[in-house]
Amino acid sequence: MEIKELHLDNYLGKEVKINGWIRNHRKQAHFCFIDLFDGTCFKSVQIVYDEELSNFEEVSKLLVGSSICVSGLVVESSGKQEFEIKAKEVSILGYCDETYPIQPKRHTREFLRDVAYLRPRTALFQAIFRIRSVASMAIHTYFQDRGYVYFHAPIITASDCEGAGEMFRVTTLDLKNKNLKDEDDFFGKVTGLTVSGQLEAETFASAFSKCYTFGPTFRAENSNTKIHASEFWMVEPEVAFCDLDGIMDIEEEFLKFIVSYVLERCPDEIDFLNHFVEKGLRNKLENLLNSNFVRITHKEVIDILKKADVSFDFAPEYGEDIAKEHEKYITEYFGVPVFIKDWPRDIKAFYMKQNEDGETVRAVDLEVPGVGELIGGSEREASYEKLIARMKELDMNIEELDWYVNLRKFGTVPHSGFGLGFERLLIYLTVVDNIRDVIPYPRTPKSCDF
Ligand code: 4AD
Ligand code: MG
Repeated sequence: MEIKELHLDNYLGKEVKINGWIRNHRKQAHFCFIDLFDGTCFKSVQIVYDEELSNFEEVSKLLVGSSICVSGLVVESSGKQEFEIKAKEVSILGYCDETYPIQPKRHTREFLRDVAYLRPRTALFQAIFRIRSVASMAIHTYFQDRGYVYFHAPIITASDCEGAGEMFRVTTLDLKNKNLKDEDDFFGKVTGLTVSGQLEAETFASAFSKCYTFGPTFRAENSNTKIHASEFWMVEPEVAFCDLDGIMDIEEEFLKFIVSYVLERCPDEIDFLNHFVEKGLRNKLENLLNSNFVRITHKEVIDILKKADVSFDFAPEYGEDIAKEHEKYITEYFGVPVFIKDWPRDIKAFYMKQNEDGETVRAVDLEVPGVGELIGGSEREASYEKLIARMKELDMNIEELDWYVNLRKFGTVPHSGFGLGFERLLIYLTVVDNIRDVIPYPRTPKSCDF
């Protein structure tokens, strides 16, 4: 049976048989104790055995990391746990030698990153990756329950949605052969890995009204920070007949839904993180559910930053992007997630709806304490003429994106959407502050080890 079942019901006085890996092994004068986990739930189970065990000698020599199958009786425990298993039979499935890097002590996260293939066996990474799994389900549940169509955006694409030139190239060309042209490449043109499924999502929202993508996203940006990865997962809903206020309402409801879903389903994991990583985690998450997110314009943010009694490394300026230190100041200033809307058009993407002032666009970023930018979204430009004018201004290849601009000719509607960085959400949920620790096998500049 699974260890999860043992903790769900009362098995006192019953015979059980479980499998697992040894997390800790203590030998005392008359008894030996094994802390056994199988990953089916956060909790482990204590096994007790003594010299009556037929293979006592062999079992007592087992090192941490070994795998065993135990049959025994569930009895009351004299220790801190509610019950333990008095072993009658222990069969050894796999030995583990002394080179096993995961020992029953605190390892640094940097050390564990180097043994990424074994770190899921630690309590910390059991918590993180269970929450990652449950949060994925929360995302699907939120959208599915509300009638959104889940669609799979292509991974190989010819369009750089964000126009930031951060696409990884996909090619079969022999790069040493200088005579080859783009037309000779596999798809007959330049292609890359997607930086966002948004443009394709807009085509589906223009048919199903509500859709979402949730999949891998790639960015070849050379940022070695704690919140940037070269491969990450993004959730991108796109909603027709929805304006900027409407999409902010959805973002707020969506984030609260995920938090309550995870709080409900991962109480042991959250308690562990609350205990060992950051004391205020549970409070922070519970408070979020009852908070109202702040909604202010980019200009108002700059006003606040300019008045701040802090000397920033980068001076805040109207019309310019805000730095990490500004995001931090603003989220701490309000203490709740902050929607920053109406951004200067020149620092945002081509597809965003232009405001009447000619200077700003209907973009909105959601900034959360401890992470910074968690979500980027906007109302999309629905006017054919305005979109074309903007693309011309930016010297974009309109022909390549005819399928996208044509949506504005064939029954255009107001529509909006956003992209949530799944790993940044996990940083928020787990307070493990480095993106490398919420991705099973992280890819960052100069690092792709597994
Ligand atoms: O703000 P971004 O670039 O927005 C878009 O890509 C839009 N097309 C989304 C949309 O409207 N459908 O990215 C969205 C989010 C960011 O807010 C951030 O959380 C995350 O994706 N993100 C990254 N996460 C990890 N590593 C990176 N390198 C990231 N780049 C963006
Ligand atoms: Mg952004």
